[in-house]
Amino acid sequence: VNGVIEIPVVVNVLYRTTAENISNTQIQSQIDVLNKDFNATNPDFANVPALFSGVKANVGIRFVLDQVIRKSTTKSSWGYNDAMKKVAQGGLAPTSPTTKLNMWSAVIGSGILGYAQFPGGAAATDGVVIDPKYFGLSGSANAPFNLGRTGTHEVGHWLNLRHIWGDATCGSDLVSDTPTHNEENYGAPAYPHYSTCSGTPVEMTMNYMDYVNDNAMYMFTNGQKSRIAAIFATGGPRAAFGI
Ligand code: ARG
Ligand code: ZN
Ligand code: CA
Repeated sequence: VNGVIEIPVVVNVLYRTTAENISNTQIQSQIDVLNKDFNATNPDFANVPALFSGVKANVGIRFVLDQVIRKSTTKSSWGYNDAMKKVAQGGLAPTSPTTKLNMWSAVIGSGILGYAQFPGGAAATDGVVIDPKYFGLSGSANAPFNLGRTGTHEVGHWLNLRHIWGDATCGSDLVSDTPTHNEENYGAPAYPHYSTCSGTPVEMTMNYMDYVNDNAMYMFTNGQKSRIAAIFATGGPRAAFGI
């Protein structure tokens, strides 16, 4: 309706230490980052190179904090096999996962910042997980991943977006207006960074679905926006969100 997609967000906080019991302010800062990045109101959207000005997108999704659920735990890390989503394993089950985005703030371990479930998976494990150190505006100690873009990247996956390099050498992300990348990029790549894949395109290293630093990623494309829109359409895997 009216092209505005509004997503209620439930944040499940699992904490052992007081630092892991992230504040409501830190939680809201993540919601605010999502609202900027998915509505092209992030200030660094202006840094998108002219080469990509024809494909840069305002995805047009609003995120609204619905509730915060907190639980203390003795676990120092949860891994990435969804233990944090299961009450029997000491975690918190998602709330209304077919109509709300569930986020977990939980220490994953193994150097992983976050992970997400794609559309079409089990409701009981649907949502995104972000380590509390990288959740929202998480402070200079956690640079270069302290600008909430782990959340943007993981919510991108939750909305059906693949890594821009297609998880393979010169792989496909199933989006035609993103260039083919050799592989993932890290850090803050100098522009232009050329791919050696077919056609040697300039890579879109500033796309949220690459692996660069938070301050080096600042755009989605129209093709990514279309992929997202399809999941909310009638018959799509997130049609229950009722847009
Ligand atoms: N799933 C990726 C990881 O755990 C997240 C990368 C997020 N990138 C970022 N700049 N915040 O490594
Ligand atoms: Zn990813
Ligand atoms: Ca592509």
